[in-house]
Amino acid sequence: MCALQYLRPDLLDLKPYDAVPAPAADKLDANEFPLDWPVGFKQKLSLLWEKGIPSNRYPDAHHQGLKQAIAAYAGAEPEQISLGNGSDELIRSLLIATCLGGRGSILVAEPTFSMYAILAQSLGIPVVRVPRDSETFALDLERCQQTLREHPIRVVCLVDPNSPTGNGLTAAEWEWVEGLPDSILVILDEAYFEFSRHTALPKLAEHPNWVILRTFSKAFRLAAYRVGYAVGHPQLMQVLDGIRLPYNLTALSQWAVQMALEHAEELLADVALIGQEREALYQALQELPGVRVWPSQANFLYFRVAGWDPQKLQRAWQELGTCVRYTGGGLRLTVGTPEENRRALERLRQILQ
Ligand SMILES: Cc1ncc(COP(=O)(O)O)c(C=O)c1O
Repeated sequence: MCALQYLRPDLLDLKPYDAVPAPAADKLDANEFPLDWPVGFKQKLSLLWEKGIPSNRYPDAHHQGLKQAIAAYAGAEPEQISLGNGSDELIRSLLIATCLGGRGSILVAEPTFSMYAILAQSLGIPVVRVPRDSETFALDLERCQQTLREHPIRVVCLVDPNSPTGNGLTAAEWEWVEGLPDSILVILDEAYFEFSRHTALPKLAEHPNWVILRTFSKAFRLAAYRVGYAVGHPQLMQVLDGIRLPYNLTALSQWAVQMALEHAEELLADVALIGQEREALYQALQELPGVRVWPSQANFLYFRVAGWDPQKLQRAWQELGTCVRYTGGGLRLTVGTPEENRRALERLRQILQ
């Protein structure tokens, strides 16, 4: 029983997103990009005042300039774009726009990005969880179909490539997604698009019930600035813009994204380094005793170690100075700098010896 009688009882059990601050450790737990912005770009960031952007005025509520720049980068039209304070905000807005008020449930295929279920729960929206195949992490399409028959599913949430497991959607899964009725919104979360280079965008025009989510927090290295975007049907974008807080992006965040897009080529050139490091880590992990590691299309690797409680392993690793994420019964290791990766492996070898 809670003393605060005005609180919604269903929120008392809500498990919030577990964002661990670990400044002293090699931070390989949040799928961030391991390199900060080049100094020259950072200096430009501090020149906000020179651009004549005043501190006393509210920032651009309509994100006009940003929508144009993002549309050009993504290969879409500005009216197909809506911006959020991180893609987290867009997930919440999409759930408000579809399921709030007892209008339906969401389907999530676990393990996957936990914010889908957390945000739905925070809004009182029922979450139907379908376990992924324990070997391949593919969707159990039969169970998914059964779920559609048995529950009033209004939103299907898919992450491509999936976090924490790193696998992209298979041909059979795409076929299923393409066959979903227009009454169901399909969220295709492409947070790791710049690493996988796979996108559903060319098919968006055929599917007014699909929406793509992307973020500047990963390959563009702007996690601190909190900007994500949705690409989808203009009418859905209008609704998303209508229900969000009016000034959801600070002037500094908008300026940072403009700069990121102006320098996209230079910033994204380092994505290749992450790919090389990921493959080297994958090989090295595979050679460790008892380690089962899955291939990944993103900037992280998912693995389990036979005979080890993953939570215990995570704590031991963190004590030695490498912070990783325990999730879905395994560990997710973000690809760091070559030096961080070398230390991560050295420490893991030490623990497993
Ligand atoms: C799949 C996925 N979607 C969305 C997000 C959230 O991104 P943002 O920082 O834009 O809120 C993350 C962050 O880790 C993620 O992994």
